[in-house]
Amino acid sequence: MRPQVVQRSTKPLSDDHQMVLKKLDDFEEVINNLDKPDTIMPTLKELGTFFKGEIWIHFAKEEDALFVEMAKFMPIEGGPIGVMLLEHEELRKANDEFQKGLEVYVRNPDDAKAAALIRQNGMNIIQMLRPHIDKEDNILYMMAEMHLDDTQTKNILKVYEEIEKRFQ
Ligand SMILES: [Fe+2]
Repeated sequence: MRPQVVQRSTKPLSDDHQMVLKKLDDFEEVINNLDKPDTIMPTLKELGTFFKGEIWIHFAKEEDALFVEMAKFMPIEGGPIGVMLLEHEELRKANDEFQKGLEVYVRNPDDAKAAALIRQNGMNIIQMLRPHIDKEDNILYMMAEMHLDDTQTKNILKVYEEIEKRFQ
């Protein structure tokens, strides 16, 4: 029988997803209440910090650890990994624009252009990330767990640790 590895390498990532999904609910709430800056400001700032920092640790774990090992048994181009990478790129762009809007909005919530940047890019992020997470949890991570051997899993977990240090 195959020895049981200590931990599945996709488990920390699917745990992250649960947290991200909660953040997206907060994001939706904020976007719907941009005309009430006093109410939403603390949550909006938290979202700004999260999307500027913490979420990129998750993306780095996928791009630099999990996908690297997965690429040994499936092609990147034209396959689900390629699609995920393209979506990460789109999310990066939308986040850059959201952060620009946020920077102005915290100083001047009456700035209509800033509110529009937050609204448009926030909606974009929410609409991209929910199905993105769904595809990863239900397709990509399942494929990973089917094919990754124990050595690969250990490699991935080791790179996760290095990434966490990199972001400290
Ligand atoms: Fe993910």
